[in-house]
Amino acid sequence: MAGVKGRVVVITGAGGGLGRQHALLFAQQGARVVVNDLGGDREGSGFGSDMADAVVSEITRAGGEAIANYDNVATVEGGADVVSTALDAFGQVDVVVNNAGILRDKSFHKMAPEQWDAVLRVHLYGTFNVTRAAWPHMREQQYGRVVVTTSTSGLFGNFGQANYGAAKMGMVGLINTLAVEGARSNITANAVAPLANTRMTADVIPDDARLDLDPAYVSPMVVYLCSEECTDTGAIMMASGGHYARIAYMQAQGVQFDHVPSVEEIALSWEEISDLTDSAPGRNPLA
Ligand code: NAI
Repeated sequence: MAGVKGRVVVITGAGGGLGRQHALLFAQQGARVVVNDLGGDREGSGFGSDMADAVVSEITRAGGEAIANYDNVATVEGGADVVSTALDAFGQVDVVVNNAGILRDKSFHKMAPEQWDAVLRVHLYGTFNVTRAAWPHMREQQYGRVVVTTSTSGLFGNFGQANYGAAKMGMVGLINTLAVEGARSNITANAVAPLANTRMTADVIPDDARLDLDPAYVSPMVVYLCSEECTDTGAIMMASGGHYARIAYMQAQGVQFDHVPSVEEIALSWEEISDLTDSAPGRNPLA
């Protein structure tokens, strides 16, 4: 398969964890990789070039092609610079894997606006900043692959992660529209929902699950979503250990009224309205 051979791939937050594994696999499959990482800690504090540099060395030592970038994706300028690094080094950008992330967990009643902001800035704005900078080039060359990294914490909810969950679902909203707008230009946009043993999950995944959740399991799914062969778009794919599965939101058959129903009629029809038997993936009735 053509896969990602020769493609120029930007991976944000690729200095460790999942992003590092993605970078290694993309390079091994013949892609030229921009390894972006700010090099901070799990909460997003600090800065350093060592993390991205180490991954680039690993790739080049193995005979692959990669270049480091240390920009902060949370700023518009940072997002633009990540893409400029790809253009300057390799002359094009074909794939963006939005993977950079931080945590600022707090239960909602204790969450400060700064904690909300910091998380949305890296995950949601970061995805916007980098993807926006790459988008015109993808449109012009009539080819592009965008992947965002969502989370079951956003898709299904998780205690203490209102900021993170909102950001992660925002990214799904983004790819839904990118899938529609990119279709004419042969640009796909999909989401991966991983579960892996990294520094981000170090204190939430029970010890006995660690061996089964090597982040390397997630990367083949990400690389496939970015391959020439994969033309699916707007999909959410879960990858956790050796398990891979599509996640979709379903729409029930529902109930059709021929008049404005009373509140009591809604209450009486509640079970039928909510019944997911024979449901199908939901669609935008206006699209
Ligand atoms: P990680 O903490 O090892 O990786 C995140 C990377 O992003 C770090 O290397 C960090 O330096 C970098 N980063 C943070 N802020 C940045 C910024 N502003 N600009 C550039 N780089 C920045 O954690 P992990 O687990 O590898 O996470 C990767 C992605 O996967 C994140 O988006 C995370 O939310 C998501 N995810 C991870 C899950 C897991 O089970 N590990 C579950 C669901 C989602």
